[in-house]
Amino acid sequence: MQAANQLSSIAGLLACPWCSGALSVGSTDVTCQVCARVYPIQQGIALLARIGTPEAPQVQGPAPTSLSYQQQYQDVAEATKYNEGYKKLSKIINTTREHSVLNRLLKTQPRSATLLDLPAGGGRLSPALEQHTDLLIESDAALGQLLYGAADPALKKTAVRLTASAFHIPLKSGAVDATVCCRLSHHLPTTAERERLVAELLRVSKRFVIMTFFDHDSHKNRRRLALRKPSKLTMTISQVAELAHRGGAELVAYPALFPFVSGHRYAVMVKRKTG
Ligand SMILES: C[S@@+](CC[C@H](N)C(=O)[O-])C[C@H]1O[C@@H](n2cnc3c(N)ncnc32)[C@H](O)[C@@H]1O
Ligand SMILES: [Zn+2]
Repeated sequence: MQAANQLSSIAGLLACPWCSGALSVGSTDVTCQVCARVYPIQQGIALLARIGTPEAPQVQGPAPTSLSYQQQYQDVAEATKYNEGYKKLSKIINTTREHSVLNRLLKTQPRSATLLDLPAGGGRLSPALEQHTDLLIESDAALGQLLYGAADPALKKTAVRLTASAFHIPLKSGAVDATVCCRLSHHLPTTAERERLVAELLRVSKRFVIMTFFDHDSHKNRRRLALRKPSKLTMTISQVAELAHRGGAELVAYPALFPFVSGHRYAVMVKRKTG
């Protein structure tokens, strides 16, 4: 019940993932006031994910897409298996480090009234994120992941949860103060998907976006290339800077998760002031 009330509290921020129309929140579903699509609410979570990939011109036959990845953790049992894997020592060290990098970077920006975590997965980063916002919105393509996160006893605040595709975020432009997007871009196989991701994150965020990416020029990727192993799904710092610029923001920092050792970087993209 509390979750449904929380969803109503952000009704004015929601937009239809198909037509961008305003959405009205009922007790069992959410309805688009323009195209009349109806989105169910399941266990307090609005199912607003428009699963699929951004429209992209196909040059030579069908391009690879992340469609199957979006569908992987719909089931809570699959999500549980995935999240329990993060309880190994090496993963705990990573998560502790990720919390500390996020805490440090979020402190460099004004506190957010609303912060979107997309994809939130099983809420692994929520204990760090919730301290920096009045309202945390956890969102993921997979319902199973959000249900797993909703059961976390460590959380101090009630988050709003909704399924969403990062390619069609069901929020109005500038709906939230900021968005955090960790560990998604390096799963996206095409430039079109990575570009669409950055554009959508910046569209819905009023002030800033923090997004991880796998640095093409990191030691880790360079070593793979030298050993003639296939490259990771990477981006260069200048590509991220260019996409930030296109989305009305500047790339102001891009620290590595672990300098020299990890290929993951945190891009901090701050929106330019308009008017
Ligand atoms: C590696 S997990 C990262 C989760 C979280 N950010 C973290 O660091 O723990 C990636 C998540 O992305 C979700 N996902 C995959 N494609 C997506 C898409 N297009 N839009 C939103 N979520 C997506 C998956 O369901 C999965 O939970
Ligand atoms: Zn609609």
